[in-house]
Amino acid sequence: MNLIKKMLAAPVAVLALWAVNAQAATDEEIAARIKPVGEVCVAGEECKGVGEVAVAAAGGGMSADDVVKKYCGACHGAAAAAMGAPAIGDTAAWKARADGVGGVDGLLATAISGIRGMPPKGTCATCSDDDLLGAIHKMSGL
Ligand code: HEC
Repeated sequence: MNLIKKMLAAPVAVLALWAVNAQAATDEEIAARIKPVGEVCVAGEECKGVGEVAVAAAGGGMSADDVVKKYCGACHGAAAAAMGAPAIGDTAAWKARADGVGGVDGLLATAISGIRGMPPKGTCATCSDDDLLGAIHKMSGL
């Protein structure tokens, strides 16, 4: 009888341990699942979540190269002259335009509003002003 009790006790202890472990894992999972989506930001401290959202709204944090490649290059690339768009790297053409609108800021304003064959924001609807300005600097060399 004693031997049988011992034989039964061992697996029961193992089972109990396993159950405790399983519960611990489940508690962690639950804690992760019910974690608030947005963590509270404290004034004066860096708030990572907010910065990431801002970057996402600003064209997904694309570099000037990405913006030019993805959006502007189609019309400002090699075949640009045919459409009347100033070509990438043709600084003289960009400079002539910049001089006509009061500098690079003027170019930015036209790029945002669009002009004739140039669609508003050069089709990059998610681009921030800075994204567009970066692309203009990149393409014009100004
Ligand atoms: C669908 C074609 C097209 C795309 C895409 C495009 N452009 Fe243009 N862009 C043009 C054309 C055409 C012009 C010349 C418009 C004119 O003066 O008639 C132009 C002109 C411009 C000018 C000069 C504006 C001025 O004041 O003279 C700027 C700046 C400019 N584009 C920036 C951009 C930027 C930045 C992008 C990318 C985010 C872009 N463009 C994408 C067609 C395009």
